[in-house]
Order: sequence, then structure tokens, then C-alpha cells
Amino acid sequence: MKDFSSAKFHSLILILNLSFSSSFIIYLIKTGEMKLSQIKSKLRVKELAEVYTNEREVNSMLDLVKEYSYDIEKRFLEPACGNGNFLIKILERKLKTVKELYSHKSLKEYEFNVCLALSSMYGVDICPENVHETKERLFHRVFDEFYLSRNTDFPNPKFAKSVYYILHNNIICGNTLKDLDMRFTEFKKGKKKFSFLQKRFFFKELFNEQPKQYYTLKEKDYLNIGGEK
Ligand SMILES: C[S@@+](CC[C@H](N)C(=O)[O-])C[C@H]1O[C@@H](n2cnc3c(N)ncnc32)[C@H](O)[C@@H]1O
Repeated sequence: MKDFSSAKFHSLILILNLSFSSSFIIYLIKTGEMKLSQIKSKLRVKELAEVYTNEREVNSMLDLVKEYSYDIEKRFLEPACGNGNFLIKILERKLKTVKELYSHKSLKEYEFNVCLALSSMYGVDICPENVHETKERLFHRVFDEFYLSRNTDFPNPKFAKSVYYILHNNIICGNTLKDLDMRFTEFKKGKKKFSFLQKRFFFKELFNEQPKQYYTLKEKDYLNIGGEK
């Protein structure tokens, strides 16, 4: 757990498992201990150590930090996010909380809290295709959940823009073991209602007790859900 600016940065560093050998994985598939859907190709297993975690294991691991995983504002970082198997489950849990607390409140309040939940999740992967797939899955899950929670409402056009903006900033392509200059954006509730404050940090800074931000963005209109100034 690391401090991320003044507020506590409650991040769950999920362990980067690069140590499986491909022959061991083939053995696990043959013996039925691993499903075929957990890999895309033998080559990718060899080159990227790409073996996706199945749903049951993801849920058991998240249950180890159950309270955090349902908390809208607790921050999670997945340093080798693959196609987003962990992040999608974290998002589902957070959106369950948003639904319970805000589905009967105003549209703006609901949308703002969805953005808050999404902005607390970070993912990195070395493979651009995986990064793209993760963003797509998260984007669609936000809107699937929107229609289930809001009945006859339609999303505010600014909401889709904000969701896209957050994903663009938080789900990034990089080498977690080497790219210490990767940039992370911290989103926090701004002073104005329904707005976000954004601070930017280099990855290397996040390992320090008191990380220095290198840039603060003003509360942006496009993250001012519902357009209230
Ligand atoms: C074992 S898979 C796990 C994927 C996901 N965490 C899951 O559990 O379903 C490993 C992932 O790490 C990525 N990867 C490998 N080396 C990496 C590195 N140095 N930095 C970031 N990602 C890396 C691969 O592209 C692959 O998607």
C-alpha cells in the first residue's frame, strides 16, 4: 500500500506472475486444471506469459480484500492487466455499490459516482491489444450497468466522454518492470459539485512516502458531469 499524494493511495498490487513455463501450462490444460479460454496462443504464453486468471480465482482473490473491492473510492492498480479479468470484477463490485446508493438519486449523482468508481481503477499491460480489450470491456460494462440501474434514463453525452477520458488516462500500455516514467492521474472529488480534480504523477514517484505531483489539471468541464459550473 502506498501513499498517493496527500490522500491515502489504497492500491492493491496484484502479483505479476511471469514465472509459468509454457510446457507447464500445456500440462495444466491437458489435465483439465486450466481452461483453454485462459490462453490465446502458445506463442503469447511464451512471449508474454499470457495466461488469464479464471473468474472463480479472481473472485476468491478479491474476496481477500472484500470491503475495499466494493468501496467506490478505494484505488486498485493491476500491473499486468491482460484483457482486464481483475479490473472487470472490481468494476462490477464498485458499480453494485453505486447502484445501491445512487440508482434512485438524480442522474447526475449516479453518473458522477460511476466516474468516481471508474477513476479509482488503474491497469497497465505491455501488450497494446490487451490494453485496448480491457478499455472496451470496462466501457461496455459501465453502460450495460447504466441501463440496468437507471431504467428509462439516457446517459448524458458528457458522461460517455468522461468515461472515455478516464479509461484513456488510467488503462495504459507500458512495461511495469521498466517504465518508471509512466504517468498516472489521480482523480479526486473537486470543490465544485460534480467535478474532479486531477493530479499527475510519474510511476517512480508513487514508491515514495510523499510522492510529488508534476502537474495539476484544473477541474475540467468535460469531467464536470452534467455540465454544472
Ligand atoms: C499471466 S497474464 C495475466 C493477465 C491478467 N492479470 C489476468 O490475471 O487475467 C500476464 C500479462 O502480463 C502482461 N505482461 C507481461 N510482461 C509485462 C510487463 N513487463 N509489464 C506489463 N505487463 C506485462 C502480458 O501481456 C499478459 O497480459
